[in-house]
Amino acid sequence: MSDLGGRTALIVGGSAGIGLAIAREFLAAGARVAIVARREQPLAAARQELGTAVLAYAADASDDAAVARVVDDLVRRCGRLDILVNNAAVDLQAGPLIDMPVADFDAVMRLNLRAPLLWSQCAWRASMKQHGGVILNMASLGGMMLYPDMGAYCASKAALLHLTRALAAELGPGVRVNAIAPGLIRTDMSVAAWRGEHGARFASRLPLQRLGEPEDVARSARFLASDAAAWITGETLTIDGGTAVQPGRGRSRQADGGGSAGST
Ligand SMILES: NC(=O)c1ccc[n+]([C@@H]2O[C@H](COP(=O)([O-])OP(=O)(O)OC[C@H]3O[C@@H](n4cnc5c(N)ncnc54)[C@H](OP(=O)(O)O)[C@@H]3O)[C@@H](O)[C@H]2O)c1
Repeated sequence: MSDLGGRTALIVGGSAGIGLAIAREFLAAGARVAIVARREQPLAAARQELGTAVLAYAADASDDAAVARVVDDLVRRCGRLDILVNNAAVDLQAGPLIDMPVADFDAVMRLNLRAPLLWSQCAWRASMKQHGGVILNMASLGGMMLYPDMGAYCASKAALLHLTRALAAELGPGVRVNAIAPGLIRTDMSVAAWRGEHGARFASRLPLQRLGEPEDVARSARFLASDAAAWITGETLTIDGGTAVQPGRGRSRQADGGGSAGST
C-alpha cells in the first residue's frame, strides 16, 4: 500500500524511538523521508537502516538557523515538504516543578513547544502555503493528565495540544494539523518507567495489558498523514492502551492481587 506515495516527509527527532518507527512506516507507505537529530552516530545508523535515499540532517531542533537551513535544503532537493512531524522533545525535570531551575523550564518549552511552531512556520513559508500539507505534533498523555515530577514536560505538551488546534484553525483548508498523545511507549526516553518490574506491573493494569511500542504510534501517524484522514484536523489521537480511560484504578483489586495502581 503506498498511501503516502509521492509525498515528502520530514521527521524532526527521527533517529530513534517513535520518530524512527515513523520513518520506517512512512517509507513503507511510499513517502520520501528526511530525518533530523542532533547526534551524528545514531543518525548515521538510522540512515543506514532506512536506506541511503533517506536524507539525514544533524541539527538541534530548537535552533532557529538550523531549522531554516534544514527546511530550505529539503525543499530545494525535493521540491516541496508535504508532511512535517514535530517529534523531538525533552524532559529535564527530576523533582517538583516548584524547585525547577527556570533555565531548565525554558529549555523544555523551547524544544517541546517553541520548536514545533518554528518548524511549522518554516514549512508553511517554504512549501505548505503553496502546496498544502500535513503537520503532526507529538504530544503526550502527559498533556492531558499529570505525571509526578514532570510538571514542565506535561505543561509543554498541554500547550502543544492547543498550539495544534490554533494552527489547524489558521492553516486550513490546505494544511491539516493534528496531535498524537501516546501513553507509555517502550523507548530510551521512557526507559526508567518501563524497565524491569515497573513495565510489567504497569502493563498488567492496562485494559490492553501491554506496553506501547513505537510501531503502535507510527501506524497512527501514517493514518493521520494520509488522505484517509482528509477530514480530520485540530484533533488529538490518544494511543495509550487504555491508560486514560482506566489508569490502573478501574480494574478490580482482587484481579490485580490487591495492589494499588502506579503511574509513569
Ligand atoms: N516514550 C514515551 O513513553 C512517550 C510517551 C508520550 C510521548 N512521547 C513523545 O514522543 C516523542 C519521541 O519520544 P521517544 O520516546 O521516541 O524519544 P527517544 O527515543 O529519546 O528519541 C528522541 C529522538 O529525538 C531526537 N532529539 C531529541 N532532542 C532533539 C533536539 N534538540 N534536536 C533534534 N533532535 C532531537 C533524538 O536524537 P538526538 O538525541 O541525537 O538529538 C531522537 O532521534 C517525544 O515528543 C516524546 O515527548 C514519548
